[in-house]
Amino acid sequence: MRHDHLLTANQLTREDIEHVLDRAAEVDANPASFGQRHAGKLLGLCFFEPSTRTKMSFEAAMKRLGGDVVDMGSVDSSSVKKGESLADTVRVVEGYADALVLRHPLMGAAKMASEFVDVPLVNAGDGAGHHPTQTMLDLYTIRENAGLDDLTVGIMGDLKYGRTVHSLATALTNFDASQHFISPDSLKLPRSVRYDLHEAGATVREHTELDPILPQLDVLYVTRIQRERFPDEDEYQRVAGEYQIDTDTLADAKEDLTVMHPLPRVDEIAPEIDDTDHARYFEQAHNGVPVRMALLDLLLEGDS
Ligand code: CP
Repeated sequence: MRHDHLLTANQLTREDIEHVLDRAAEVDANPASFGQRHAGKLLGLCFFEPSTRTKMSFEAAMKRLGGDVVDMGSVDSSSVKKGESLADTVRVVEGYADALVLRHPLMGAAKMASEFVDVPLVNAGDGAGHHPTQTMLDLYTIRENAGLDDLTVGIMGDLKYGRTVHSLATALTNFDASQHFISPDSLKLPRSVRYDLHEAGATVREHTELDPILPQLDVLYVTRIQRERFPDEDEYQRVAGEYQIDTDTLADAKEDLTVMHPLPRVDEIAPEIDDTDHARYFEQAHNGVPVRMALLDLLLEGDS
């Protein structure tokens, strides 16, 4: 695998992660000094699935680096509607841009697409697979709030279909982090991710209830049940609404517990938590800009 494509969290070492997070901290400290770094360069956005945060923060990041974007637009307004293949789409768009960002509903789509292009390709979410740039901003947020070592993290919700979970859990194996996974039995981590964690020497601690483990946690990472990935609606309805948290739920949490969520949320976190010191999910979303500026800066300067 070429290292200038960013496809899964499995390809990231601790050194890689720290390199990106350190660059993001430089961006945060002095964004103006990056303002003309990539003037004249173009980023191609190919989003085959809805997105607010990932797409807009990539666009903001590229523009804040002095560059611009070319956007395929919605699937309905593109030639995908006429039957154009993913391979042909990315081969065409690489001729218009210096790097590509791809979101697609099928797991493995980014890896497949990367085999057809010579410019760097970034996976912005491939079905229930991975979402490595989300993980970078998650790790940046964790480092800012709790530090990345001597850490106990609870990851709760849809661990089966949640690609942000798959990437975060994999990346955390690079750090001294104990991971606890809280979900209904039907939404436990997939076998492939469990295998990757075991291979990395991590212990997979699984729970169906948050309460017993909550007092130990430094970070609680809550995720949405991914309704769009369920093969049938009945199966979704059986687990919908499980694992909602409110201020009562957090009564026994550490005072400095950091609550995160990749967003969008549906009903997993009650709005009353937004006003507490635990809530870091909007800060997390905002960190998407400096972190993606750092990633693009490194990719476009050829520092793989
Ligand atoms: N966190 C995230 O990937 O959000 P979007 O789907 O809005 O991009």
